[in-house]
Amino acid sequence: MINKLLGIKYPILQGGMANISTGSFAAVVSNSGALGVIASGGMDKDTLREEIRVCKSKTDGVFGVNLMLLHPQIDELANIVIEEKVPVVTTGAGNPSKYIENWKKEGIKVIPVVPNSTLARRVEQYGADAVIAEGCESGGHIGPMTTMTIVNEVVQEIKIPVIAAGGICNGKQMVASEILGAQGMQMGTVFFGNKRMSYT
Ligand SMILES: Cc1cc2nc3c(=O)[nH]c(=O)nc-3n(C[C@H](O)[C@H](O)[C@H](O)COP(=O)(O)O)c2cc1C
Repeated sequence: MINKLLGIKYPILQGGMANISTGSFAAVVSNSGALGVIASGGMDKDTLREEIRVCKSKTDGVFGVNLMLLHPQIDELANIVIEEKVPVVTTGAGNPSKYIENWKKEGIKVIPVVPNSTLARRVEQYGADAVIAEGCESGGHIGPMTTMTIVNEVVQEIKIPVIAAGGICNGKQMVASEILGAQGMQMGTVFFGNKRMSYT
């Protein structure tokens, strides 16, 4: 399962959520044994650096940064994750292939979100460690395939681990995605719907 690759307790990633998953938010998730992920969408480069430092100050756990490839400062953000020694990078809204080699050289685990098996195969060739196969249940910058169809297809097309995302919020849905071949799950909505968690 993906937790072994990432060095976390549970095979669960908190999806980057623009304007929601700050450094403090991600730290709470990482402290719980899943992978907390800071969303850079909506942040400029200085804010991202600051939020990474906040996260590091609040957790000794593994955490990640989500980079939206449509971000106007994407080249600078892609360097900041190297400078700040971020352990895991997830990417959304595009093809991150041109950045992967540099990130891998620095020991960063690279996990792109993919909307189809074509992009999954491409990022595997460029050295991605795993992919997040995200169905349209998640909303946002993703293709028309559902989680049920995309996870099933992508696991047959690539050898690296596949993480399922989109509409997963309980144990039954996690097991269902495992049966489809996923080695981990990324969830978004459930993390900010859970009022018992405090992110401040
Ligand atoms: C409010 C919100 C904001 C999101 N922002 C981003 C983002 O900035 N980058 C990204 O790659 N995915 C983003 N996502 C997708 C999540 O990372 C995650 O993959 C998705 O929420 C999974 O589906 P679920 O909400 O059904 O669990 C966002 C999702 C939500 C609900």
